[in-house]
Amino acid sequence: MEKFVINGGRALDGEVAISGAKNAAVAIIPAVILCDEPCRIENIPNISDVTLIGRILQEMGAVVKRVNKSTLDIDPRHIASCSATSELVRGMRASYYLLGALLGRCHQAKVCLPGGCNFGARPIDLHLKGFAALGARHELVNGAIIDVKSEQKLHGNNIYLDFASVGATINIMLAAVKAEGQTIIENAAKEPHIVDLANFLNSMGASIRGAGTDTIKIRGVDYLHGVTYSIIPDQIEAGTYMCAAAATRGKVLVKNITPKHLESISAKLREIGCEIKEYDEALLVDASKMPLNRCNIKTMPHPGFPTDCQPQFTALLCTVDGTSIMNESVWDNRYQYVSELTLMGAHISVEGRLAIIEGGSRLTAAPVKATDLRAGAAMIIAGLCADGTTEISSIQYIERGYEDIVGKLTALGADIKKVYFEQSADQGLRA
Ligand code: EPZ
Repeated sequence: MEKFVINGGRALDGEVAISGAKNAAVAIIPAVILCDEPCRIENIPNISDVTLIGRILQEMGAVVKRVNKSTLDIDPRHIASCSATSELVRGMRASYYLLGALLGRCHQAKVCLPGGCNFGARPIDLHLKGFAALGARHELVNGAIIDVKSEQKLHGNNIYLDFASVGATINIMLAAVKAEGQTIIENAAKEPHIVDLANFLNSMGASIRGAGTDTIKIRGVDYLHGVTYSIIPDQIEAGTYMCAAAATRGKVLVKNITPKHLESISAKLREIGCEIKEYDEALLVDASKMPLNRCNIKTMPHPGFPTDCQPQFTALLCTVDGTSIMNESVWDNRYQYVSELTLMGAHISVEGRLAIIEGGSRLTAAPVKATDLRAGAAMIIAGLCADGTTEISSIQYIERGYEDIVGKLTALGADIKKVYFEQSADQGLRA
């Protein structure tokens, strides 16, 4: 058992370097399955989700070597099977990208239903509709394994997504990249990691146009050659540190980022009274001078305000005087962490997709848990602001997506430690 223990009340101050994007890495690593030669991927975040997807590829026959903390060499040439059905596959959400990548490579994919962060229903019907349009039929085997196959080579088609789903856009791109003819995805997702994946595939010889807009056009190619590719910085990790700087009324230079990816977050921080200075690959967040004001936020697909920063901003808005309203428009049930924040003295009521935050009262330390990855980040932000010592359990969720969060926060002046506990039946938890 491991926990984070935080002594709150210190304003963050200093510089933090942002790692490579988790949600780009977990798409780009499976995308190597489509390549006909070895690849080197750089700026990979050192997080457990990356370790897991690397191990899954190894189990499938790929040779995966860690060159250093942020670089992986992957040789996919010896992947012999089109199945990924081990227990490891259930351990993460993004393992569903194996469906698109394997379909693209061998016209068939047998993959366990994915696991990952649990915030209500996470359907994949749009992924499967896309595969069907390319000529692949699916069935669910024993309620646990999705078997998708096409009798012949996949063929391009026009696909309209009912919702601009990140996962469906990526999976369809992966399946279509070697299909016969042209595929057009309408109402495609536009998140930065969609563009990153398209750039990676194009650098290998794929023909993808329009990534980052509503319409993506993919002309199938037969061969993808090996490349060295560097992953974009993590938009959400950067947003989390920006939010933590504001919540603690600190001053933090967030480095190794693409400021354009952070516009919606910067806009909201400016609206509440933070000073934001943009540089080429960095942003300064200064919340040390002025009192902060309330605001309303609605999460939207990119370039709207990202749902993956919603819990962190809810924690921030607890520290600001007045009533703020959060409107979660992407996920049905992403407020499970609110009951944990209320244990720390937050006044939040949830009505459907709205969270009404009565901010301004001091947060106080309490034992809380990370109910998922971004919820865990929100607990850390609350702990950094709270009076007393906050203990956060279930930190394995946080470590799925944040590289060295203890080291990075400590360098900014936070008092945060990872503590190992033993659990015994009669004594409960002891350090
Ligand atoms: C990606 O999940 C991210 N995960 C999520 O980040 C992020 O919250 C989400 O996009 C939205 O930005 C990865 O990239 C690995 P979606 P994904 O398909 O692709 C509905 C994090 O914290 N939908 O865009 O699974 C769905 O129910 C994680 O880093 C369907 O109805 O999200 C949701 O309401 C958590 N049918 C909406 O679309 C489908 O077939 C958005 O889902 C697919 C999705």
